[in-house]
Amino acid sequence: MRFILAKDATDVSQKAYDFIRKSILQNPSLTLGLATGSTPLELYKLMINDYKRGNISFKNIRTINLDEYVGLPEGHPQSYRYFMDYNLFNHIDIDKNNTKVPNGSAIDLNKECEDYSSFISKNVQDIQILGIGSNGHIAFNEPGTSFNSSTHIVDLKESTIKDNARFFDNETEVPKKAITMGIKDIMGAKMIILLATGSSKAEAIYRAIKGPITEDCPASVLQSHPNTVILGDHTASFWIRVNREPD
Ligand code: PGA
Repeated sequence: MRFILAKDATDVSQKAYDFIRKSILQNPSLTLGLATGSTPLELYKLMINDYKRGNISFKNIRTINLDEYVGLPEGHPQSYRYFMDYNLFNHIDIDKNNTKVPNGSAIDLNKECEDYSSFISKNVQDIQILGIGSNGHIAFNEPGTSFNSSTHIVDLKESTIKDNARFFDNETEVPKKAITMGIKDIMGAKMIILLATGSSKAEAIYRAIKGPITEDCPASVLQSHPNTVILGDHTASFWIRVNREPD
């Protein structure tokens, strides 16, 4: 695991895009694991701008997203499919048939989970982008999730519902369940880039990098991945910078 201290959110995004850009130029049909949430938004803007300037094509890449809420109607503006279309896919030359997001409205959710993991094992992510929750979650793998998990349905923790309530009119509208790539699916990626910005992530980043590898902090599993880069801005890296355990 490599930690890179970035100045701010813009620098985090630029450094992440530098890795992605270089990899796509080397392999124009690579598979990119993507994340939703507020953290990667600036990265997606960089991808769009670079494409619009004619510097890169995403025509032949494949993307696989980490997760999706269960039970939101198709086209709901808070669904992660909508998020990806709106914030990235609609603005670049990607073939939408090559963009995969779990189907949270599938009638048979267990089959959707099995199919999703099986798809990932056949289309291993060359680079997986990750955010991190304030409780150390990665995707919707909350504390306590088995490191051996494949794609599964989760009951969201209260802290995650609260974190995500800002995107909904009120907290009661946040779905209580989601479908998420498992930790095993994530760890199969050839390279993982975790982006962290803001002070609310500082404790989770410390535990992910310096804490014990434990299912209590899902992101700590990344210590055992052979090619992970953690990009933290100044505030998210506070406890790493001062090199002591959070108070
Ligand atoms: P955020 O979410 O990017 O909106 O902070 C990250 C996460 O919860 O994984």
